[in-house]
Amino acid sequence: MQRYIVTGGARLEGSVDVSGAKNAALPILAASLLSDKTCVISNVPILSDTRTMLEVLKRLGVEVNFENNRCTINSVNLKPAKVDEELMRKMRASSLVLGPLLSRLGHVRMSYPGGCSIGSRPIDLHLKGLRKMGARIEERHGYLEAKANKLKGTEIYLDFPSVGATENIMMAAVLAEGTTIIRNAAREPEIIDLQNFLNSMGAKIEGAGSGVIVITGVNGFVSAEHRVIPDRIEAATLMIGAAITKGNVLIKDAVYNHLEPVIAKLQEAGLEIIQEKEGIRVIGKEKIYPIDVKTLPYPGFPTDVQPQIMALLALADGTSIVTENVFDGRFKHVNELRRMGANIQVEGRVAIIKGTSRLTGAIVEATDLRAGAALVLAGLAAEGVTVVEEIEHIERGYEGLEVKLATLGAQIKKE
Ligand code: EPZ
Repeated sequence: MQRYIVTGGARLEGSVDVSGAKNAALPILAASLLSDKTCVISNVPILSDTRTMLEVLKRLGVEVNFENNRCTINSVNLKPAKVDEELMRKMRASSLVLGPLLSRLGHVRMSYPGGCSIGSRPIDLHLKGLRKMGARIEERHGYLEAKANKLKGTEIYLDFPSVGATENIMMAAVLAEGTTIIRNAAREPEIIDLQNFLNSMGAKIEGAGSGVIVITGVNGFVSAEHRVIPDRIEAATLMIGAAITKGNVLIKDAVYNHLEPVIAKLQEAGLEIIQEKEGIRVIGKEKIYPIDVKTLPYPGFPTDVQPQIMALLALADGTSIVTENVFDGRFKHVNELRRMGANIQVEGRVAIIKGTSRLTGAIVEATDLRAGAALVLAGLAAEGVTVVEEIEHIERGYEGLEVKLATLGAQIKKE
């Protein structure tokens, strides 16, 4: 197993480029299954998750070429759809092929996506929406089989603004008969990026980014070119790296309005954040003010930045409260931060962080990609050496994190 060796104490200085957004690229790659024309998708981050999604497509008979962050995909020879257990277990987001395959082929067999270290990851809202569109879905022994002659447009109200359910239903509705309206839809920027990609293929969708998305069914597609938006979660992670090391970093290509909930909280914690032509500059300060953070669906504070901001607040001058409202088990990083000297108490969905003056390096374990990133950030500020193990979790979602941090002056290496 590979690991990061981080020696704390260096201030991050300079500028760094943000990669394309993993959570936009994954649904967009899945969406290319709808079309029998060629799709060229650029700014795709080279991650184990994007490679897994491309492997899922290849096993379905899709022609895939991936080089220099650019994917050329042609799904003209799609085979009968079966998404095997190995890949579904490897990456829950494989479930995003359900909507496009059901819409294109009318029959999909796939294993149930496993839970993961941040809690149970059901897909009941995905299935409820697809059933409302006329799909017959049987679930047994960890497998599901979905069938539909022709999906029908309908009105769907999501009990929770689930990102994946919104995306799966959007993609299923593109070839459906008539119009589909999704209410209480997720509003993340990645949903808007998926809408823009689908419309570039010839779909007719509007409203992404608002809570109501309207999809009018179409019959065919054109070849499409699309550039994936920058990764707001990676940008937030690098911003917190600048903050925790009291550095001065320009995060190039980061989109300010995708990061407003994070910027607001970092400013509350005392950081100076400046919007520049090329991106966002973060200037760390000697003192980190304690703050209260509640994770919520976009435009609330993103759950994917919760572990990272907790690492920062472990060094705040006072007591902070972090409430995790999106996932039911996303505090696995707390024990690891405690091993570095953080003073954190967890009561259910609430973590109480009593800031300390210093953290000390330790051997810690990445339990999921954002928790792992948080441990790297803590290691940048800790006294001594931190060894972050199980970094394959981190590499699922961060393209060359250690290279980017080393470019900014961090003492970090992979071994
Ligand atoms: C997406 O996951 C992201 N992944 C996650 O990022 C992100 O944390 C999450 O959205 C929330 O923003 C991708 O986009 C590939 P949800 P997703 O459906 O779609 C419950 C990362 O670190 N729920 O919005 O799985 C669910 O259990 C990853 O990059 C149901 O109950 O998230 C959770 O508590 C981690 N039934 C909540 O909703 C359903 O059918 C949010 O899930 C679906 C979801």
